[in-house]
Amino acid sequence: MPRQFFVGGNFKMNPVTQEQKRTLVKVLNEATIDPAVEVVIAPPALYIFPLKDILRKDIKVAAQNCYFKLSGAFTGEISPSQLVDAEIPYVILGHSERRTLFHESSDLVAQKTRAALDAGLSIILCVGETLEEREAGKTAEIVESQLKPVVGVLKEADWRFVPAEYGFSDSFTKYHVPPCSKIVIAYEPVWAIGTGKVATSAQAQQAHADIRSFLSTAVSAAVAENTRIIYGGSVNAGNCKELGNQKDVDGFLVGGASLKPEFVDIINAKK
Ligand code: G3H
Repeated sequence: MPRQFFVGGNFKMNPVTQEQKRTLVKVLNEATIDPAVEVVIAPPALYIFPLKDILRKDIKVAAQNCYFKLSGAFTGEISPSQLVDAEIPYVILGHSERRTLFHESSDLVAQKTRAALDAGLSIILCVGETLEEREAGKTAEIVESQLKPVVGVLKEADWRFVPAEYGFSDSFTKYHVPPCSKIVIAYEPVWAIGTGKVATSAQAQQAHADIRSFLSTAVSAAVAENTRIIYGGSVNAGNCKELGNQKDVDGFLVGGASLKPEFVDIINAKK
């Protein structure tokens, strides 16, 4: 089955007023969007609810982060179970801003991934290398090192009800769907985030193909084939078509441009 194109809008710590929020929603609510695309927007936590209530129902709402505990004395954190209870289907985990500014390690990201999966959330899992790492020829190595702890978590999880070809049939637990439908991998080179310096389509394609090949070896051929790998980093209306036409690019995670009307053009990149 072909992988469904996925476009996420990560609003980060924007907008800062209710008025800006209403304007953004109006643009999306009035837009003609390709029904074949899965669209998810991630507003700041404070705005998840008012926004979800006024947003058209064919666009999903995500959280930008969650904790790995389900409840307790963790001031300032959001529980994966709370997100499920609030009918929020997705959470972004491992964004480079969380890794860098808030010192989140790949092991912590994997713990959060496991907790989110256990609670029933889908995950937009971000990975990507710095400019220094790319220039040292370490892109694939860095991305694999970020993915490995998550693969470990997936292997521990219980995929008993998942068809055998996904390679999880001999474990024992409770997930009823293939892991590839619950995790969207966002390849976001750190040097391209918010810089206006987009990866070339060849660079993006190569990184995505490397991730798919890693998944094939580390998990299974079926997971590699079915997992959506999206690109993030200075995507805009001008570059989305070429990037979106690459064989292994299954969509985008958009930051700055998701706050502008051109987000609609990015959603419709494949039209
Ligand atoms: O989550 C989104 C990415 O950080 C990309 O941000 O489109 O502003 O470069 P950007």
